[in-house]
Amino acid sequence: MLSTKVQGIVLAAGQGTRFNTGRSKLVEKICGQEMILFATRLLEQLHIPTLVVVGYQKELIKSVLSQHHGSSISYCVQEQQKGTGHAVLCTQQHWDRDHLLIMNGDVPLVTPDIIERLYNEHTKTNGEITFVTSHNPDPSSGGYGRVIKKGNSIAIVEARDFDGDPTEECCINAGIYLVRRAFLEDTIGTLKLHETSQEFYLTDLVKIASDNNLTVTTVSAPFDRIRGINNFQELWAAEQVKRCELLKHWMDRGVHFSAAQNVHLDLDITIGSGTYVGCGVHIQGKTIIGKNCKINEFSSLEDVTMGDGVEVHPHSIIKNSIIESFAEVGPFGHVDQSTVKEYAHVGKFVELKRTTMGRIAKAKHLAYLGDAQIGDRVNIGAGTVICNYDGTHKHKTIIGDDAFIGSNNTIIAPLTVGKKAFTAAGSVITDDVPESALAIGRTHQTNKEGYADKIRSTQQEEPRVEFTAAGFVGALKSKNNSCQ
Ligand code: UD1
Ligand code: CA
Repeated sequence: MLSTKVQGIVLAAGQGTRFNTGRSKLVEKICGQEMILFATRLLEQLHIPTLVVVGYQKELIKSVLSQHHGSSISYCVQEQQKGTGHAVLCTQQHWDRDHLLIMNGDVPLVTPDIIERLYNEHTKTNGEITFVTSHNPDPSSGGYGRVIKKGNSIAIVEARDFDGDPTEECCINAGIYLVRRAFLEDTIGTLKLHETSQEFYLTDLVKIASDNNLTVTTVSAPFDRIRGINNFQELWAAEQVKRCELLKHWMDRGVHFSAAQNVHLDLDITIGSGTYVGCGVHIQGKTIIGKNCKINEFSSLEDVTMGDGVEVHPHSIIKNSIIESFAEVGPFGHVDQSTVKEYAHVGKFVELKRTTMGRIAKAKHLAYLGDAQIGDRVNIGAGTVICNYDGTHKHKTIIGDDAFIGSNNTIIAPLTVGKKAFTAAGSVITDDVPESALAIGRTHQTNKEGYADKIRSTQQEEPRVEFTAAGFVGALKSKNNSCQ
C-alpha cells in the first residue's frame, strides 16, 4: 500500500552552513555512506518512488545518488534556498500520488518501522498531516522545532521563535511528515515568509491544518532514530549511534571486538563468526571477512574479500584485494589491487601492488612486489624489489612455481623467472631466468690481503674534542668551554 499511495520527497537543497565546510553536508559520510543515501535507501527499501529536492551543489548530490540508485530517482531544483516550505513548493508540478512523505535529507538514522507506523497512523486517522515527533530531554540543543499541543490545537514552533519553558516543552519535530496531497495543494502556496530568517517553514502547515480543525496526528520515535545532523558534533553523535548498532549486529553473530569503542565499521561489510577484530581497526567499503580470522590492531581493510582463518598482523593496510583462506599479512604489510592465495605469507614491511602471491608463497620481510605474478610455493628473500616502472610504463614480472628469489634482489621488469629457478642473494636480475636455473647477477668478490691496514695508515686521525655540557652553543659544538 505504502508504495502505491505514497510518493517520497527528500529535501536536500540546503547549504548546510552550520558545518562550515563550504560543502553540502548531505555528502558527509556516516559509517562510510553519504548522509543523503540513508534517506533515499530507506525509501527504496519501502518501494516508495522518490523525488529529491536539490539546489546547493546539486551536481555533487546527484552524482552521489546516481552512483547508488542509477536513474531511479527524480530531481527537482530549488534554485534559491528559501526554506523547507519553499523546497516542497518547488516540487508541486511532480506530485502524482495521494499522499506525500516529506523527509529532511539530514535525518539518517530513521528505520522502516517508523515510516510504517507513520503510514498506519495516517491511514487509521484519515489524517491531513501525520508527522514524527520525539522526546528530547535536552531540547535546547540541536535547534529542533517544538511541538506545542494545547487542547485540540497543535503547532510547531521553530527553535529561534520559541520562548516557552525549555525544560517543559520536550516534544520535538523530527522532520518527517506524511501529508495528504489535496491538503498540500491548497496550502503550500499560502505559507508566509518569516522575516527574521527570510524562509518559508514547512512546519507552519501543522498550525494551518489544526486551525482549520483538520486531523493532525503525531507518531513518536526514539530520539536516537531521528537525530538531525546540522554540524560535525551531531554527525559524530549520529555515527556513534550507527556504529553501536553495527557492532551489536556483528557481536551477535560471533565477532569478538577487543576494543569496540575504537573500531570503525562501514555499513556494507560482512564479518564471519569467530573472527577477532583488534583495537583501532578500520573495516571499510564492501569488505567481506571470512570466519575465524584475526584482524589485529590498527589495520585497515577497504574493499577486501577475505577467506577463513586469515591473520592480518598489526598496522597493515589492505585495499581492493583478495586474501584467501589461512594467508597472513603484516605487520606493516601493504596490499593493494592484489591477490594473496591460500596459506601465502606477505610479511613485515612488504608491499604488494597489482600482484598475485601464489599458494604457500612467502615474502616475509621488507619487499616491494609490483605488477608481478608469483607462483605457488615461491620464496621471496628479504629486501627484494621488483622494478616495475621505467618512468613511463609499468612492466610485468612472472615468477614460476617453486622459484627461490634470494635476499636483496633487484628484479628489473619485464622478465620471467622459470619454475624452480634460484636467484643468488644480492643479484640484479635483468633477463629471463630459465626453469631450474641459478641466476647470479652480481660481481665476484675480490679480497686484497692486508689492504685494510694500508688504508688506515694513510688516514689522518681526527683530533679528539673534549666537551662538556657548556661546550655546546646552540647546535654548534665549541672547542673551548666558554659560552661567549
Ligand atoms: C527542521 C525543521 C524543525 C525540525 C528539524 C528536524 C523547518 C522549518 N524546521 O529544522 O522543525 O525540528 O528540521 O531535524 O522545517 N532544505 C532545503 N531547502 C531549503 C532549506 C532546507 O532543501 O531552503 C533541506 C536541507 O538540505 C535539509 C532539510 O531541508 O536536508 C532541513 O533543513 P534544516 O535547515 O536542517 O532544518 P532545521 O533547522 O534542522
Ligand atoms: Ca536539520
